[in-house]
Amino acid sequence: MLRTHTCGELNISHLNQTVTLCGWVQKSRDLGGTTFVDVRDRYGLTQLVFNTDSDAALREKSRGLGREFVVKVTGKVIERTNKNTKIPTGEIEIIVAEIEVLNQAKIPPFLIEDETDGGEELRAKYRYLDLRRNPIRNNLVMRHKLSQEIRKYLDGLNFIEVETPVLIKSTPEGARDFVVPSRMNPGEFYALPQSPQTFKQLLMVSGFDRYFQIVKCFRDEDLRADRQPEFTQIDCEMSFITQEDILNTFEGLARHLFKTVKGIELGDFPRMQYADAMRLYGSDKPDVRLGMEFVELNDIVKGKGFGVFDNAELVVAINAKGCAEYTRKQLDELTDWLKRPQIGATGLIYMRHNTDETLKSSVDKFYSEDELKKWADALSTQPGDLVLVLAGQTDKVRKQMNELRLEIGGRLGLRDKNTFAPLWVLDFPLLEWDEETERYHAMHHPFTSPKPEDIALLETNPGAVRANAYDMVINGIEVGGGSIRIHDRELQSLMFKHLGFSPEEAQKQFGFLMDAFEYGAPPHGGLALGFDRLCSIFAGLDSIRDVIAFPKNNSGRDVMIDSPSTIAEAQLNELKIKTTV
Ligand code: AMO
Repeated sequence: MLRTHTCGELNISHLNQTVTLCGWVQKSRDLGGTTFVDVRDRYGLTQLVFNTDSDAALREKSRGLGREFVVKVTGKVIERTNKNTKIPTGEIEIIVAEIEVLNQAKIPPFLIEDETDGGEELRAKYRYLDLRRNPIRNNLVMRHKLSQEIRKYLDGLNFIEVETPVLIKSTPEGARDFVVPSRMNPGEFYALPQSPQTFKQLLMVSGFDRYFQIVKCFRDEDLRADRQPEFTQIDCEMSFITQEDILNTFEGLARHLFKTVKGIELGDFPRMQYADAMRLYGSDKPDVRLGMEFVELNDIVKGKGFGVFDNAELVVAINAKGCAEYTRKQLDELTDWLKRPQIGATGLIYMRHNTDETLKSSVDKFYSEDELKKWADALSTQPGDLVLVLAGQTDKVRKQMNELRLEIGGRLGLRDKNTFAPLWVLDFPLLEWDEETERYHAMHHPFTSPKPEDIALLETNPGAVRANAYDMVINGIEVGGGSIRIHDRELQSLMFKHLGFSPEEAQKQFGFLMDAFEYGAPPHGGLALGFDRLCSIFAGLDSIRDVIAFPKNNSGRDVMIDSPSTIAEAQLNELKIKTTV
């Protein structure tokens, strides 16, 4: 080893020892006779002292040290006169006897400090420098700890980690595939897995019983803060289980991770029906930290001559606690925000429960104070509260109210990063109608089992069929999802039929799975947790980008390696993708 210690471990117990450290120059201060240099590595920061008055050669060397130079220093550990209580090495410093520059560095394009002056794009281009910064490195250290604990927990329950192939054919998880041309099979393409779904089911047919994999998945879809084109799943599958077993096993995993990595006891996860989540929160991933459940007001407000409410399918309200002092201007701004095309509300009605106990609404013309008292009762308001009401077509108005609720929750500071509110959302619809293609799509994926009692509805009312499917939600983020699978060829064929596949298409695309079901497929089910999302929740981040070492930007580009990029004509020819004329 070039070093005797790391830059993060020396303290008062090492006094008078001669040590050798290696690291990067964080900063240097020349105070005339003495130069202080902070040297940094992954473990921390240590202060070096150069007594330059007495040693001209050392003076030369210390002055030549630039930011981010890589150095090896040897010296004696002494006690600092000016202690820094903020860092573990803050009580000591090293009197440098020897220093060797192992490598020089250009001036970095942004500050390598906790708070940097570098913009997103610049940091992405020099990601290897960004990764030197504590906040980003700490995220990756935590990610590592999580993956260790995941393996420990699942191994303890007899799960076997199996690697499934990356060059496969389409697995329908609702996104577009990334495809890879095959040189040996001209004109043919592999697809990269959107998930290992079919393979893990085949492993169940093979009798593996309990499988997991921390695995890269690839989806060509529009990117958002919580979506990357390549991301990592904790993918799991079990045989001979009920939905209850799966919920308990993976709730257990989440509890284990919170306990071992964050020291937090989560307790039992509440369970909520999908239909209730939509009714009470207008979302299948409710952020239950915020409270503010929806209250439907149809029975109270209709028939009083106010057309907007009378003509609406749903009138729904939330109680914004303590917001009665919102000014007219603030409420107008909120209304404009709701009317933006991204949200699409037609307007916002409100009622203040003033601190003098009076009730005042924006529709006083139609509702007397006695009528408003019913609103106040329905929403359990107290003086100082503000009731916000939206009206319209049920699905739309629920979505709009969901946005409004999240916005108000944010303003009220209820989205606290250190509070964790997990839950299971259960019994998702099996199918969802797609306006664009005018057909049903599998809401989870086509291998999800309908609830046995709902199978008959497939013929008469497909939209009403519920699935044995569940999502794990934490703080309003879909952390994972899964289902009990179909393990019967007949039912799987029926499912494909309802999804608009001809028997030939279904056989061509998924014949291998349906064939396997004829060779003794056990009942099975599973789920996949989004590992990046889980890490971002642990790190208290809104985006998954900084829990990934080398992420893509919003256009799916890696600006550091400049990818995707064009390839040489010769390579295209070889792949028979394009021929030269
Ligand atoms: P699903 O499609 O719900 O299920 O994906 C599981 C979890 O993966 C995460 N996730 C993503 N994370 C980052 N970027 C993305 N683009 C992205 N897409 C999904 C989410 C999501 O909950 N095969 C099924 C699982 C199963 O049924 O067992 C599947 O992939 O956190």
